[in-house]
Amino acid sequence: MQIHDLHFKQMISAEQIHERVQAIGAALTTQYKDKNPLFISILSGAFVFASDLMRAFDGHCEVGFVKLSSYKGTRSSGDVQTVMGLEKELNGRHLIIVEDIVDTGRTLHFFTNYLREQSPESICIVSLLSKPDALQFPIEIDYTGFEIPDKFVVGYGLDYNGLGRNLPDLLVLADV
Ligand code: IMP
Repeated sequence: MQIHDLHFKQMISAEQIHERVQAIGAALTTQYKDKNPLFISILSGAFVFASDLMRAFDGHCEVGFVKLSSYKGTRSSGDVQTVMGLEKELNGRHLIIVEDIVDTGRTLHFFTNYLREQSPESICIVSLLSKPDALQFPIEIDYTGFEIPDKFVVGYGLDYNGLGRNLPDLLVLADV
């Protein structure tokens, strides 16, 4: 399939994603059933995964959405990030962070440090995808859907320049 100037091919089917999401949902149910966890979905890419994951959770829960903006500074000053949209009280809550993909780990490394300062009862990190070969920041992911090679992927919420989020399967950049 062509998106903008690039060609993508199928990597993980919608059925495989569904099975994995159900399994993670069941594990989260065992862990958090009577704890009213707060799912925090990182926008934009994780909204499709978060929507399926919370419906695979059998118990009371809440959901919040957060947008993280990063401004690339100079190499020496690094990234400055801001957190927008998280209006819930986090003190004493069980948080389940839902991310689409951990690439370098920069986003989650920053965000979990920010969350720890809000004194939650616990933090669980769930990422649909991770690229272990690209990891540069220390991150402990509690539940990973699929570990994938360090290649660009789209679909199931992930985009390439705005397109591809609505694709039910995950596609990977095809070698030309
Ligand atoms: P990190 O901060 O380097 O771990 O990057 C995480 C963010 O980069 C994800 O939430 C995605 O928005 C984006 N990203 C990383 N790899 C991909 C990819 O292969 N396809 C689409 N977006 C990606």
